[in-house]
Amino acid sequence: MLKKLIMVCGFGVALYACAPASKTNIDAAKLYKTHCVICHGIDGKLGINGAKDLTVSPMTFKERVNNITNGAGTMQAFKDILSKEEIEALAKYTLTLK
Ligand code: HEC
Repeated sequence: MLKKLIMVCGFGVALYACAPASKTNIDAAKLYKTHCVICHGIDGKLGINGAKDLTVSPMTFKERVNNITNGAGTMQAFKDILSKEEIEALAKYTLTLK
């Protein structure tokens, strides 16, 4: 019983220790520069090819994730190019653009 408890705790600690580390490996600003700047611009306002101004977009985090994953209009879907974690990091990043 005690052994089991220790194992569960150990696993919990490992998860806790690994989760933030794997998140910080994603450089959202760099990903944004690589994949998004051509249409949205470095500040999100460029609007090339009908791209929406990301600084005034009313979209929520979830909607942004969906938009980046599946694409919209002339914006391509990124689900085959970026991981779910990268897309989430980018959605969060676009929310910080001012
Ligand atoms: C080929 C040009 C292009 C690229 C590259 C591109 N976008 Fe877009 N993006 C668009 C267009 C066009 C729209 C508007 C789509 C529509 O008509 O609803 C848009 C819309 C969005 C929206 C929703 C804004 C809103 O209010 O409708 C988000 C968020 C977004 N893009 C994020 C990104 C991110 C993050 C990347 C990089 C991974 C990216 N885009 C790359 C063209 C692009």
